[in-house]
Amino acid sequence: MQEYAGAMQELAKSIAGVLVTNMGVKRGLWEDDCNAGTCFLRLNRYPPCPISPEVFGLVPHTDSDFLTILHQDEHVGGLQLMKDSKWVAVKPNPDALVVNIGDLFQAWSNDVYKSVEHKVTVNREAERHSIAYFLCPSYESFIGCCKEESSIYKKFTFGEYRSQIQHDVKDYGHKVGLPRFLVST
Ligand code: OGA
Ligand code: NI
Repeated sequence: MQEYAGAMQELAKSIAGVLVTNMGVKRGLWEDDCNAGTCFLRLNRYPPCPISPEVFGLVPHTDSDFLTILHQDEHVGGLQLMKDSKWVAVKPNPDALVVNIGDLFQAWSNDVYKSVEHKVTVNREAERHSIAYFLCPSYESFIGCCKEESSIYKKFTFGEYRSQIQHDVKDYGHKVGLPRFLVST
């Protein structure tokens, strides 16, 4: 797992680097911060569920990091993403990894890159496994917009973002996410 996490860290940073460069800015300071011990691997296991497909394996959500690299199960499937107001299945491809933009990248890019909503449905017969690597900055790093003057989000730290999510989950039962940090007009 350590080896895998190391390889994903390198890959995630190089993909993030390309996306940052495409925004026409120099590589962000936060890239060095993403060496932080806040990055993590999540190993998901979805047991078979006879009452599928009404049951979620994972409820609809966006990832709260910069960038996620997902190795989904090679056969079972179940991952879906929201595209043009419709859920679209992400077909398993044994030769491909799935890359998700997270909330922090959306904030940093001022909505140029979108943190895509996704969910997992369970399978009636087959168990499914996936491994997700989350590229995160240190809790103290400020996530400001790369084009500061026209920023639609307030500047916030990753630590603030995480604790806001925890409060919202406690108070409302779900994550509110980026809308909390919109600059009020
Ligand atoms: C996640 C996630 C998808 C999957 O862990 O945040 O979206 O296919 N996982 O397990
Ligand atoms: Ni996710």
